[in-house]
Amino acid sequence: MSTSTSAHPVFDQAPATESFREAVLNGLRREQKQIPSKFLYDERGSKLFDKICELDEYYPTRTELAIMREHGAALAEAVGPEARLVEYGSGSSLKTRLLLERLGNDLAAYVPVDISKNHLLESAEALAEDYPSIPIQPVCADYTTAFDLPAPPRPARRTVGYYPGSTIGNFRREDARAFLAQIADTVGSDGGLLIGVDLKKDVEVLKAAYDDAEGVTAAFNKNLLRRMNRELDATFDLATFEHQVLWNEARGCIESHLHSTTAQSVSVAGESFAFEKGETIHTEDSHKYTLDEFSSLAARAGFDVESVWTDEQSYFSVQHCTVGNQTR
Ligand code: AVJ
Repeated sequence: MSTSTSAHPVFDQAPATESFREAVLNGLRREQKQIPSKFLYDERGSKLFDKICELDEYYPTRTELAIMREHGAALAEAVGPEARLVEYGSGSSLKTRLLLERLGNDLAAYVPVDISKNHLLESAEALAEDYPSIPIQPVCADYTTAFDLPAPPRPARRTVGYYPGSTIGNFRREDARAFLAQIADTVGSDGGLLIGVDLKKDVEVLKAAYDDAEGVTAAFNKNLLRRMNRELDATFDLATFEHQVLWNEARGCIESHLHSTTAQSVSVAGESFAFEKGETIHTEDSHKYTLDEFSSLAARAGFDVESVWTDEQSYFSVQHCTVGNQTR
């Protein structure tokens, strides 16, 4: 199961590559056309997302980083000594470095989990160089489905999940609960979770964060059309689609859409799809929570919210959740 050619053997549980083609065709056949947001992140999409994180309007990244910097000592204390830290969707592990710096020698293992094997390996190598005393155990897996953890190289006192970036917001509330319950299972009794959760706030602030003046987020969303043109022989005319963002009050989420400004027919992988003028492809949900909403969601997944750190404006939160010893 593991490859040992590299200095950092990857515990490989990568799923059979999920087909972009299948997901797109199924999504476009629906009444409300939709494509799962994970497909926004091809190479160009990932670069555009990095640019989004630096926009004035996109407050989550810098706010979460500021919270982590300010409360680094308390976060390290929440993780506790000789813990094993498991990061869900580690990417380049940028925020994690703030934790690793604090925890250093005191960590039994750092386990980055990511579906992108190359990215995972590269960042594992870089981390190993910068933190030579932390055992790093990369796991290649789709973290939204159950996966196994490698045995820690030295005994861990507890396992703590790490899920920054408010990526939990991409799940519908029920799916978020199921995913949190899966984490609770993985970390086990006495385990914990450090999670970044974006909070409800003024709707205009939220909408601007997903529809910036420079149009970077629009380019990020419309990149999906380019990707379909390139990879699926699609015939989308980018000039006839607009980035559209709305706040769905009932679901408590920002919805991103690609809005057809004209009636048209588009071919994708040889199949023809009709668009009415004004019809949209729904491309992403970003759910927002109040602190109360999140703590009841966490409770339904078996977690108690133990500590909450937030910024002055209460825009964003980093939360430490714990699994009690009681059986669920
Ligand atoms: C990476 C899912 C947290 O929903 O805020 C940013 C993605 N999309 N701007 C978010 C995103 C448009 C982002 N997450």
